[in-house]
Amino acid sequence: MAAANTDAAPRLGVCYYPEHWPEEFWARDAARMADIGLTQVRIGEFAWSRLEPSPGDFRWEWLDRAIETLRAAGLGVALGTPTATPPKWLIDRHPDILAHDRHGRPRRFGSRRHYCFSSERYRAESARIVEAMAARYGRHDAVIAWQTDNEYGCHDTVRSYSPEAERAFRRWLAARYGDIGALNGAWGTVFWSQDYRAFDEVDLPNLTVTEANPSHVLDFHRFSSDQVVAYNRLQTDILRRLSPGKPIFHNFMGFFFDFDHFAVGADLDFAAWDSYPLGFLDVAPFPPEDKVRYRRQGHPDIAAFHHDLYRAAGRGRFQVIEQQPGPVNWAPHNPAPLPGMARLWAIEAAAHGADAVSYFRWRQAPFAQEQMHAGLLRPDDQPAPAYQEARAAARDFVAVGAAAPTPASVALIFSYEAHWLFEAQPQGAAWSYPGLVFEWYSALRRFGLDVDIVSPEAALSGYKAVFVPSLPIIDDAFVGRVRASGALALFGPRTGSKTATLTIPPTLAPGALTALVPLTVTHVESFPADHREAGRFNDGAVSGRIWLEHVETALAPLAARNQGGGLLYRNGKALYLTTVPDHGFLAALFWSILTEAGVATAPVDPDIRLRRRGDLVFAFNYGPEPRDVSAIAGGASFVLGAPLIEPAGVAAWRDEAHKMKTAR
Ligand code: GAL
Repeated sequence: MAAANTDAAPRLGVCYYPEHWPEEFWARDAARMADIGLTQVRIGEFAWSRLEPSPGDFRWEWLDRAIETLRAAGLGVALGTPTATPPKWLIDRHPDILAHDRHGRPRRFGSRRHYCFSSERYRAESARIVEAMAARYGRHDAVIAWQTDNEYGCHDTVRSYSPEAERAFRRWLAARYGDIGALNGAWGTVFWSQDYRAFDEVDLPNLTVTEANPSHVLDFHRFSSDQVVAYNRLQTDILRRLSPGKPIFHNFMGFFFDFDHFAVGADLDFAAWDSYPLGFLDVAPFPPEDKVRYRRQGHPDIAAFHHDLYRAAGRGRFQVIEQQPGPVNWAPHNPAPLPGMARLWAIEAAAHGADAVSYFRWRQAPFAQEQMHAGLLRPDDQPAPAYQEARAAARDFVAVGAAAPTPASVALIFSYEAHWLFEAQPQGAAWSYPGLVFEWYSALRRFGLDVDIVSPEAALSGYKAVFVPSLPIIDDAFVGRVRASGALALFGPRTGSKTATLTIPPTLAPGALTALVPLTVTHVESFPADHREAGRFNDGAVSGRIWLEHVETALAPLAARNQGGGLLYRNGKALYLTTVPDHGFLAALFWSILTEAGVATAPVDPDIRLRRRGDLVFAFNYGPEPRDVSAIAGGASFVLGAPLIEPAGVAAWRDEAHKMKTAR
């Protein structure tokens, strides 16, 4: 892991669009930002049509003055490249820039993200505008960081089915397989008479009569992710050349998995992400009771999950570059956060190691697509509810001060490729890989633990317990890293069930994992969400759901299935689940693993989440009633709040005795 930012307190900031407002507003806006304690402003990411209103006609002067105005108020500028919004004249000149949807139809101009990652023309045009911007502002001392583009993949835009994407895919396949015979063999194209004679015969896997070959689909998903990585690198290469020393980030999204964020993150200095907990709760398939209970708070693990994932994608460093301040405009329903949540979310991000948190946006726009999206100010320039909460959070950030995140003792493995594979071959409509990973994360957090969400390539030494919800493609190196870590390791179903080209391993599942857990999965079943497979674990009744594997093994089950066979097996430090455990089973199993590994404290109240940063322990109350944490805090001295935490409240105390420490 790269060194985290330890020498400065977290910063608070805001996203601002000077081009949306009369220039007379700017100085007062900047002064008010500084007055409430903001120190960072992100600008520019959608401004192309105002920076270059017609080809080659650059208008930098307004941006010069905007940056100068912000600098004069003591604000650092995070400058976005404007490539998420190619202007009308560019699209009219070069309609081949447009991405095509899965029905093969070109996307139209009129919103944003309408470009195809494979468009050579768009890559050249992006390089041109990024170079021009970087040449002008690359050494500007008010510019403290660069954002590449905006939210790669937003509005389902990673996978383009354009003629140019098809040509690029064929080149990608040729580079990967070398000769077409190798591709035919790897994909099994003999099936349904799909043999190809040349790479130029391979189409994109859309518009087929029934499902396309899953190996073909998986490779298309890999290719599409690689196109995002290459496109981002085009920008980072230019920025590094023309703006040496200035950190570069990209703003990732929530619950979005269409490209490999670890791979994009490898070209960045830190990761950033856009946190809209209420919108995500409304859109994502959470149980109805959670949607009701947390309607104005967001589920207690939504923001934390992404902090812990993107901290890894940023190699130890991340920011929240867009923080929800009030109702958004884009979810089916858009409630207002409970008073206090705009502050809680900011402090929680800092507790998870964020270097900065930046609200989206400064003032609500009275026009266009996002006119119903709240800001820190109302459209009439009066403070919206989050304005005073931002001021409070800025003060709290000072109180919290500088500190490195405490290393976690528990790792949860997340693989983008695993998600693409299960998309290509679900074999059960109730199976959701992201849902499974989130459930495991949430169950770990219910024990008050800090969790690192890491890629399968991550170093695992130092962790006391490693959780692998599922990893269909595994190799000996991963198995070796798990073994060498000495950690207790729990593997979920379907681990090791496929080869790298999405075929069944010759020795059957779990493939390379049999080195740790000697069993063979002979056949599998999948079920609708209401199905239960009953069994017993530690003298209690438990059940599995969604998926069941039948195995041959000499091992006795650790959790027996009532109708024969096992739901869970163990060999040494490795445990293997043949099913998706329900909540009770998961809680009992995690408790036994965590206590054996010596990392669990005790389950905390379901509405409370804890997180350590340096020698501080933070507690966040996501529930609708006050909660008392004195039993956890002991007699510690409080830096924020008090043992009785109000709804949407935060407490933080110094853990002088490191009683709570779960560090390695
Ligand atoms: C983000 C995006 C912003 C804005 C915001 C609204 O997805 O980056 O530009 O649209 O959502 O919530």
